Amino acid sequence: MQTVRTPGSARAIARTLKRPVGLVPTMGALHEGHLALVRRARAENASVIASIFVNPLQFGPGEDYERYPRAFARDFELLEAEGVDLLYAPAAERMYRPGFSTSIDVGKLGTVFEGARRPGHFTGVATVVAKLLDALEPTSLYLGQKDVQQTAVLRQLVSDLDLPTNVVVAPTVREPDGLALSSRNAYLSQAQRHAAPSLHRALAAIAAAIASGVTEPAVALAAGAPLLEAPLEWDYLAIVDPQSFAPCERCEPPALVVAVARAGATRLLDNVTVPGADGVDPILTPERPLRTRVELRGPA
Ligand code: PAF
Repeated sequence: MQTVRTPGSARAIARTLKRPVGLVPTMGALHEGHLALVRRARAENASVIASIFVNPLQFGPGEDYERYPRAFARDFELLEAEGVDLLYAPAAERMYRPGFSTSIDVGKLGTVFEGARRPGHFTGVATVVAKLLDALEPTSLYLGQKDVQQTAVLRQLVSDLDLPTNVVVAPTVREPDGLALSSRNAYLSQAQRHAAPSLHRALAAIAAAIASGVTEPAVALAAGAPLLEAPLEWDYLAIVDPQSFAPCERCEPPALVVAVARAGATRLLDNVTVPGADGVDPILTPERPLRTRVELRGPA
């Protein structure tokens, strides 16, 4: 696995890789969720690039940028063992040179739910991912469902800027008890970790209510909200349109249930989908047989 540290060398080496190319962008501290994305990218592409960059632009004042877990040596070994071809791990000063001032604002989608709680967060995400896509020119970008609003924001970015990249969204990977994997789970106390799976149980109960024909949002939410266990507390819980994230007035499949539970200073994100009558999941990209892959840029 080659490692590059600057956008120029990343672009030069990425252009030598056999296409199609899958990109898995990460902030490091890798877990099975990241590795599932790498494996999916490996299965669907001739080459795989991973990036590790703890992006200061997407952390607000007082958030955990400084203490965000960093484990480069272990991450390197994991990515190499998965057969990643190229690792792009730029230093912050190289990603954002002195005087850097451009940012990408995706509009309303970036201002609701996570965007309202973390002003500027999605501008930071969209800006860094635009830079990664520009430097690495992947055929497909692999994202996890857990950060579902991020997947919507990045789909909007790719569509609005006509970027020649597919966005592939893969299912959330969970602990056996249902807790969604996250690098921030390492912050949980024993009591918080014990209660954490109740978040997914609550969301699953709401999804089941919608799937069984409950259309009144308050009634569907009441089927799950009380299941959240102390010391966790709701930050937000809503049933939304899977594309616009507008809260539904009458909830019919396909639908998306989004939530954050607070565990002290840690915020646990999760979501569940309710597929439409056609059985199609509104968020996930179906796994494609290799022969139907479409190459969007460059020679095969
Ligand atoms: O999901 C993440 O880890 C980050 O938001 C991403 C997509 C790597 C951008 O910094």
